[in-house]
Amino acid sequence: MIPSRLQSTVPVVAARIPCRVKVSAGKRYSWCACGHSKKQPFCDGAHKTKAPGIPPVRFTPEKDGHLFLCACKQTGNQPYCDGTHLKVILQDVVKSVKNVFKS
Ligand code: FES
Repeated sequence: MIPSRLQSTVPVVAARIPCRVKVSAGKRYSWCACGHSKKQPFCDGAHKTKAPGIPPVRFTPEKDGHLFLCACKQTGNQPYCDGTHLKVILQDVVKSVKNVFKS
């Protein structure tokens, strides 16, 4: 068991670009919302110990096809990518530039 002080209360960024996945109509999927899963973008149960307050989002596509599922875990349209990862990338760049001027 992970001590609660080490558990996430907000999602962690799993990747800075979305995952393109092939889905089947009528099949139920569990999208990882916490960012700790090793099977991105899908849930592997990691939230149970690492982020118990952030359960996966279940969805069932109506059509066969490909989807872009969010991997930065900051989207406002779970489980789909809404472009928010560009903001995450920008924040990383700003942080890096600030660190250059700190040293
Ligand atoms: S990967 Fe999260 S919004 Fe695009």
